[in-house]
Amino acid sequence: MSKKIAIIVGHPDPAPERYCRALANAYAEGAAEASHEVRRIDVGTLDIPMLKSQMEWKSSPLPLSLIDAQQALLWADHIVIIYPLWLGDVPAKLKAFLEQVLRPGDALSLTAKPFDRKPLSGKSARVVVTMGMPALLYRWGFGAHSLKSLKRNVLWFVGVKPIRDSVVGMIEAKNPNQRFRWLERMRELGRQAC
Ligand SMILES: Cc1cc2nc3c(=O)[nH]c(=O)nc-3n(C[C@H](O)[C@H](O)[C@H](O)COP(=O)(O)O)c2cc1C
Repeated sequence: MSKKIAIIVGHPDPAPERYCRALANAYAEGAAEASHEVRRIDVGTLDIPMLKSQMEWKSSPLPLSLIDAQQALLWADHIVIIYPLWLGDVPAKLKAFLEQVLRPGDALSLTAKPFDRKPLSGKSARVVVTMGMPALLYRWGFGAHSLKSLKRNVLWFVGVKPIRDSVVGMIEAKNPNQRFRWLERMRELGRQAC
């Protein structure tokens, strides 16, 4: 069955040679081969003002530069977020993006009441994170802390489930064959829309 997929490339650097972008391309190509519809949000190319107060979060309108991105999240059946681990977490620009699009009062608003219907219920997600350290060290040594936080405190909180993940470790040390294998894996995930 054809699905609607929103791919968020969470790398702040818009340079095409970033590996996160290659992973996103491979996922999008696989999805297109299987006749899924894809919309892409490239955080590196967006103008994202930093939220500075709770009042702004609650009362100010969503910046015009982010309206298409928010609409894409509402449109999608499946959301893919791809980012590099920076200082053990999502890069600040991706965090700024999430703070902006997930705000009270908008279509995607967070709700204060735990049993209210969540704004992104019915959607699934995959989070793909690249990093310099080995994937096993991140998962078992560091407890995949920021990945868990993104999954539980952001995506699950707005109703997304299931949320799967891929951890691409030792990115700088990978040889071309290993990089190619990851791209093939992404292409297959894109075909399956999962
Ligand atoms: C500012 C910065 C902080 C980083 N912090 C970490 C880190 O905490 N842990 C880690 O394993 N790698 C870290 N790295 C390495 C990046 O995760 C790695 O370069 C990136 O995943 C490569 O993907 P790309 O080609 O798409 O940039 C950091 C890199 C930068 C530039």
